[in-house]
Amino acid sequence: MRLDKLLANMGFGSRKDVKKLLKQGSVLVEGVPAKDGKTHVNPEEDRITIHGEELDYKEFIYLMMNKPQGVISATEDKIERTVVDLLEPEDLVYEPFPVGRLDKDTVGLMFLTNDGKLAHQLTSPKKKVMKLYVATIDEPLNKEQIKALESGVTLDDGYETKPATVEVLDEGEGLKIKLGIMEGKFHQVKRMFEAVGRKVLFLKRETIGPLVLDETLEPGTYRELTDEELALLRGEEV
Ligand code: URA
Repeated sequence: MRLDKLLANMGFGSRKDVKKLLKQGSVLVEGVPAKDGKTHVNPEEDRITIHGEELDYKEFIYLMMNKPQGVISATEDKIERTVVDLLEPEDLVYEPFPVGRLDKDTVGLMFLTNDGKLAHQLTSPKKKVMKLYVATIDEPLNKEQIKALESGVTLDDGYETKPATVEVLDEGEGLKIKLGIMEGKFHQVKRMFEAVGRKVLFLKRETIGPLVLDETLEPGTYRELTDEELALLRGEEV
Protein backbone atom coordinates (compact mmCIF):
# COMPACT_ATOMS: atom_id res chain seq x y z
CA MET A 1 0.00 0.00 0.00
CA ARG A 2 1.23 3.54 -0.74
CA LEU A 3 2.51 5.31 2.34
CA ASP A 4 0.59 8.54 1.64
CA LYS A 5 -2.67 6.61 1.22
CA LEU A 6 -2.09 4.69 4.43
CA LEU A 7 -1.45 7.86 6.41
CA ALA A 8 -4.47 9.61 4.93
CA ASN A 9 -6.65 6.55 5.71
CA MET A 10 -5.32 6.50 9.25
CA GLY A 11 -6.48 10.06 9.81
CA PHE A 12 -3.26 12.01 9.41
CA GLY A 13 -5.01 14.70 7.41
CA SER A 14 -5.47 15.53 3.77
CA ARG A 15 -3.05 14.47 1.06
CA LYS A 16 -1.44 17.90 1.43
CA ASP A 17 -1.00 17.46 5.21
CA VAL A 18 0.48 14.02 4.66
CA LYS A 19 2.88 15.34 2.03
CA LYS A 20 4.07 17.94 4.50
CA LEU A 21 4.59 15.35 7.24
CA LEU A 22 6.65 13.24 4.89
CA LYS A 23 8.69 16.18 3.61
CA GLN A 24 9.53 17.15 7.20
CA GLY A 25 11.04 13.70 7.71
CA SER A 26 8.56 12.99 10.53
CA VAL A 27 7.64 9.59 9.14
CA LEU A 28 10.09 6.73 9.54
CA VAL A 29 9.76 3.32 7.93
CA GLU A 30 12.00 0.79 9.64
CA GLY A 31 13.88 3.71 11.17
CA VAL A 32 14.56 5.48 7.88
CA PRO A 33 12.80 8.76 6.99
CA ALA A 34 10.40 8.16 4.14
CA LYS A 35 9.87 11.35 2.19
CA ASP A 36 8.12 10.01 -0.86
CA GLY A 37 4.41 9.28 -0.50
CA LYS A 38 4.65 6.77 -3.33
CA THR A 39 6.82 4.51 -1.15
CA HIS A 40 5.19 1.09 -0.84
CA VAL A 41 4.79 -0.23 2.68
CA ASN A 42 3.25 -3.25 4.32
CA PRO A 43 1.49 -1.78 7.37
CA GLU A 44 1.10 -5.23 8.94
CA GLU A 45 4.85 -5.83 8.94
CA ASP A 46 6.82 -2.60 8.53
CA ARG A 47 7.52 -0.56 11.63
CA ILE A 48 6.21 2.91 10.84
CA THR A 49 6.52 5.85 13.21
CA ILE A 50 5.13 9.36 12.99
CA HIS A 51 6.83 11.93 15.21
CA GLY A 52 8.37 8.97 17.02
CA GLU A 53 5.00 7.31 17.74
CA GLU A 54 4.42 3.89 16.31
CA LEU A 55 1.52 3.55 13.90
CA ASP A 56 -1.06 1.19 15.35
CA TYR A 57 -2.37 -0.23 12.10
CA LYS A 58 -5.20 -2.66 11.83
CA GLU A 59 -7.33 -3.49 8.88
CA PHE A 60 -10.55 -4.09 10.76
CA ILE A 61 -12.28 -2.53 13.70
CA TYR A 62 -14.91 -4.20 15.90
CA LEU A 63 -16.97 -2.04 18.24
CA MET A 64 -19.81 -2.66 20.66
CA MET A 65 -22.00 0.30 21.48
CA ASN A 66 -24.76 0.75 23.97
CA LYS A 67 -27.08 2.50 21.56
CA PRO A 68 -29.08 5.28 23.17
CA GLN A 69 -32.59 6.32 22.19
CA GLY A 70 -32.89 9.03 19.55
CA VAL A 71 -30.18 7.91 17.13
CA ILE A 72 -30.70 5.81 14.05
CA SER A 73 -28.63 2.80 13.02
CA ALA A 74 -27.24 4.13 9.77
CA THR A 75 -23.87 5.52 8.72
CA GLU A 76 -25.17 8.93 7.72
CA ASP A 77 -28.39 10.86 7.50
CA LYS A 78 -29.27 14.39 6.49
CA ILE A 79 -31.63 14.93 9.41
CA GLU A 80 -31.18 12.32 12.13
CA ARG A 81 -28.15 11.63 14.30
CA THR A 82 -26.70 8.21 13.59
CA VAL A 83 -24.75 5.69 15.65
CA VAL A 84 -21.72 6.50 13.50
CA ASP A 85 -22.00 10.17 14.52
CA LEU A 86 -21.21 8.98 18.07
CA LEU A 87 -17.81 7.58 17.10
CA GLU A 88 -14.47 9.26 17.72
CA PRO A 89 -12.44 10.45 14.70
CA GLU A 90 -9.73 7.83 15.33
CA ASP A 91 -12.35 5.09 14.91
CA LEU A 92 -14.17 6.78 12.04
CA VAL A 93 -11.12 6.48 9.82
CA TYR A 94 -11.83 2.74 9.55
CA GLU A 95 -15.31 3.53 8.21
CA PRO A 96 -17.27 1.15 10.45
CA PHE A 97 -20.96 0.59 9.83
CA PRO A 98 -23.71 -0.76 12.08
CA VAL A 99 -24.47 -4.45 11.66
CA GLY A 100 -28.22 -4.95 11.62
CA ARG A 101 -30.85 -2.41 12.53
CA LEU A 102 -32.26 -1.09 15.75
CA ASP A 103 -35.15 1.37 15.73
CA LYS A 104 -34.56 4.97 16.74
CA ASP A 105 -36.21 4.35 20.10
CA THR A 106 -34.56 0.96 20.76
CA VAL A 107 -31.54 0.87 23.04
CA GLY A 108 -28.78 -1.61 23.72
CA LEU A 109 -26.29 -3.73 21.86
CA MET A 110 -25.15 -2.37 18.52
CA PHE A 111 -22.20 -3.96 16.77
CA LEU A 112 -20.20 -1.85 14.34
CA THR A 113 -17.40 -3.01 12.09
CA ASN A 114 -15.82 -2.55 8.67
CA ASP A 115 -15.45 -6.33 8.31
CA GLY A 116 -18.07 -7.06 5.68
CA LYS A 117 -17.59 -10.80 5.84
CA LEU A 118 -18.31 -11.02 9.57
CA ALA A 119 -21.21 -8.58 9.19
CA HIS A 120 -22.72 -10.82 6.54
CA GLN A 121 -22.32 -13.91 8.72
CA LEU A 122 -24.19 -12.20 11.52
CA THR A 123 -27.06 -10.89 9.44
CA SER A 124 -27.59 -13.66 6.90
CA PRO A 125 -30.89 -15.42 7.72
CA LYS A 126 -29.19 -18.71 6.78
CA LYS A 127 -26.81 -18.41 9.72
CA LYS A 128 -29.67 -18.24 12.24
CA VAL A 129 -27.93 -15.95 14.71
CA MET A 130 -30.01 -15.59 17.86
CA LYS A 131 -30.65 -12.07 19.15
CA LEU A 132 -32.11 -11.50 22.59
CA TYR A 133 -34.31 -8.50 23.30
CA VAL A 134 -35.92 -7.35 26.51
CA ALA A 135 -39.27 -5.74 25.85
CA THR A 136 -41.37 -3.85 28.35
CA ILE A 137 -44.96 -4.37 27.29
CA ASP A 138 -48.28 -2.77 28.20
CA GLU A 139 -50.07 -5.83 29.63
CA PRO A 140 -48.94 -9.31 30.70
CA LEU A 141 -49.03 -12.23 28.28
CA ASN A 142 -51.21 -15.25 28.89
CA LYS A 143 -50.06 -18.81 28.21
CA GLU A 144 -51.60 -18.90 24.72
CA GLN A 145 -49.85 -15.69 23.72
CA ILE A 146 -46.53 -17.02 24.96
CA LYS A 147 -47.03 -20.25 23.03
CA ALA A 148 -47.97 -18.31 19.92
CA LEU A 149 -44.83 -16.18 20.11
CA GLU A 150 -42.74 -19.30 20.65
CA SER A 151 -44.12 -21.23 17.73
CA GLY A 152 -44.57 -18.33 15.30
CA VAL A 153 -47.08 -15.54 14.74
CA THR A 154 -48.41 -13.85 11.62
CA LEU A 155 -47.19 -10.29 11.22
CA ASP A 156 -49.29 -7.48 9.75
CA ASP A 157 -47.86 -8.14 6.28
CA GLY A 158 -48.71 -11.85 6.42
CA TYR A 159 -45.17 -12.98 7.28
CA GLU A 160 -45.02 -16.04 9.56
CA THR A 161 -42.27 -15.69 12.12
CA LYS A 162 -39.92 -18.56 12.88
CA PRO A 163 -39.87 -20.17 16.33
CA ALA A 164 -38.70 -17.83 19.09
CA THR A 165 -37.83 -18.10 22.77
CA VAL A 166 -39.91 -16.31 25.40
CA GLU A 167 -38.98 -15.74 29.02
CA VAL A 168 -41.03 -13.68 31.46
CA LEU A 169 -38.46 -11.83 33.54
CA ASP A 170 -40.73 -10.39 36.21
CA GLU A 171 -43.22 -13.08 37.09
CA GLY A 172 -45.14 -10.70 39.38
CA GLU A 173 -46.08 -8.02 36.89
CA GLY A 174 -45.29 -9.97 33.74
CA LEU A 175 -44.42 -6.87 31.77
CA LYS A 176 -40.77 -7.58 31.08
CA ILE A 177 -40.28 -10.22 28.44
CA LYS A 178 -37.06 -11.58 27.01
CA LEU A 179 -37.62 -12.57 23.41
CA GLY A 180 -35.06 -14.49 21.36
CA ILE A 181 -35.35 -14.40 17.58
CA MET A 182 -33.17 -15.61 14.75
CA GLU A 183 -34.56 -13.25 12.14
CA GLY A 184 -34.42 -9.53 11.62
CA LYS A 185 -37.53 -8.30 9.84
CA PHE A 186 -38.35 -4.61 10.05
CA HIS A 187 -39.70 -3.77 13.55
CA GLN A 188 -39.92 -7.51 14.12
CA VAL A 189 -40.12 -7.60 17.91
CA LYS A 190 -42.72 -4.84 18.10
CA ARG A 191 -44.76 -6.45 15.34
CA MET A 192 -44.57 -9.88 16.99
CA PHE A 193 -46.03 -8.45 20.19
CA GLU A 194 -48.63 -6.55 18.16
CA ALA A 195 -49.61 -9.85 16.56
CA VAL A 196 -50.64 -11.11 20.00
CA GLY A 197 -52.32 -7.86 20.99
CA ARG A 198 -49.54 -6.29 23.07
CA LYS A 199 -47.66 -3.05 22.68
CA VAL A 200 -43.93 -2.65 23.26
CA LEU A 201 -43.27 0.38 25.42
CA PHE A 202 -39.50 0.01 25.67
CA LEU A 203 -37.08 -2.23 23.83
CA LYS A 204 -33.49 -3.15 24.50
CA ARG A 205 -31.22 -5.59 22.67
CA GLU A 206 -28.94 -7.55 24.97
CA THR A 207 -27.17 -10.06 22.74
CA ILE A 208 -26.24 -10.88 19.15
CA GLY A 209 -25.22 -14.53 19.04
CA PRO A 210 -22.52 -14.95 21.69
CA LEU A 211 -21.88 -11.20 21.96
CA VAL A 212 -23.37 -9.77 25.15
CA LEU A 213 -23.88 -6.07 25.84
CA ASP A 214 -21.36 -4.76 28.35
CA GLU A 215 -23.72 -3.21 30.89
CA THR A 216 -20.96 -0.91 32.15
CA LEU A 217 -21.18 1.02 28.88
CA GLU A 218 -23.25 4.14 29.41
CA PRO A 219 -25.85 4.76 26.68
CA GLY A 220 -24.10 6.37 23.73
CA THR A 221 -20.67 4.98 24.59
CA TYR A 222 -18.76 2.12 23.03
CA ARG A 223 -15.57 0.12 23.18
CA GLU A 224 -13.59 -2.29 21.02
CA LEU A 225 -14.40 -5.97 21.39
CA THR A 226 -11.96 -8.02 23.41
CA ASP A 227 -10.03 -10.75 21.55
CA GLU A 228 -12.22 -13.31 23.28
CA GLU A 229 -15.49 -11.62 22.25
CA LEU A 230 -14.26 -11.40 18.68
CA ALA A 231 -13.23 -15.05 18.60
CA LEU A 232 -16.64 -16.08 19.96
CA LEU A 233 -18.42 -13.94 17.41
CA ARG A 234 -16.41 -15.57 14.63
CA GLY A 235 -17.36 -18.97 16.00
CA GLU A 236 -13.78 -19.82 16.97
CA GLU A 237 -12.82 -21.89 19.98
CA VAL A 238 -11.68 -19.82 22.97
N1 URA B 1 -37.38 -5.34 16.59
C1 URA B 1 -37.97 -4.14 16.70
O1 URA B 1 -39.18 -4.05 16.65
N2 URA B 1 -37.19 -3.06 16.86
C2 URA B 1 -35.85 -3.11 16.93
O2 URA B 1 -35.21 -2.08 17.09
C3 URA B 1 -35.23 -4.37 16.81
C4 URA B 1 -36.02 -5.46 16.65
